[in-house]
Amino acid sequence: MDETTRRSAEWYDDLGETEWHRLVATRRGQISFEVHRRFLAEAVRPGMRVLEIGAGPGRFTIQLAELGATVVVTDISPVQLELNRRHVAEGGAEAAVEDRLLLDVRDTSRFGDDEFDVVVAYGGPLSYVFEDAGTATAGLLRVGGVLVASVMSLLGSWRLFLRGAIKEAEEAGQDRNDLVLSTGDLRHFGFADKHVTKLYRWAELRALIEASGGEVVQASASNFMSATDEETLELLASVPDHWRRFVEHEVRACREPGALDGGTHILCSARRRDDHTG
Ligand SMILES: C[S@@+](CC[C@H](N)C(=O)[O-])C[C@H]1O[C@@H](n2cnc3c(N)ncnc32)[C@H](O)[C@@H]1O
Repeated sequence: MDETTRRSAEWYDDLGETEWHRLVATRRGQISFEVHRRFLAEAVRPGMRVLEIGAGPGRFTIQLAELGATVVVTDISPVQLELNRRHVAEGGAEAAVEDRLLLDVRDTSRFGDDEFDVVVAYGGPLSYVFEDAGTATAGLLRVGGVLVASVMSLLGSWRLFLRGAIKEAEEAGQDRNDLVLSTGDLRHFGFADKHVTKLYRWAELRALIEASGGEVVQASASNFMSATDEETLELLASVPDHWRRFVEHEVRACREPGALDGGTHILCSARRRDDHTG
């Protein structure tokens, strides 16, 4: 395991249970969950065998079980895998789990070609492998018929975290900041003690899929309209009918081509191209 990967595993080990609450504790998180859940439901049918990469504490493992799939659960963090075991059992979904493995998204060599109907890599495993994202994506497309992934969005995160981004630019220097904004690679800030990741533009994610032998089937943003103003979201949610309608509008807005770069994450489903032999 290289240094960056070790730090990523440690980060998620330390984050522990906080990661379980991420998709419920805020209105923004709840919308992210809903967008990801519905996107997943379009790809997964009862009886399918699914490989889940970077499964974390199990929100989507439970969803996969509810969709009638069997799941091989994997993550690079032993703590997250253990939390996954506990939460999935508490959610009554353990019967759907075929196996639970420590696995780096870079190395799917233990699995055969097309061993899975669907591979899920939600919440950014592909954001943590930097130069290896192409190899990792090609590996995921090899072992599964369909890949459903989400990565963190560069432009949406810049909008959402503008104040913090300006502060980091001042700390790191404007030249480093220019590099971060042009590449999405937070390693350019040069902060030794911070968690680093690679944020994507939609065009770049599509190019990654295509260069790895895939073709995009569907794409969506997460949290296009619901990224920044938690107070207003809370107000909306105080009237259940207004919240329900807002969620429907937001899910649809996130699918607009003009919205893809504007949320916190970019979701994408892809399949291997017929002409690809590698
Ligand atoms: C933000 S969490 C997402 C968890 C879950 N998939 C979700 O969407 O709620 C990212 C997960 O990716 C895992 N991860 C980070 N680097 C990885 C790598 N190189 N290979 C596989 N998983 C990785 C982390 O341990 C963590 O559990």
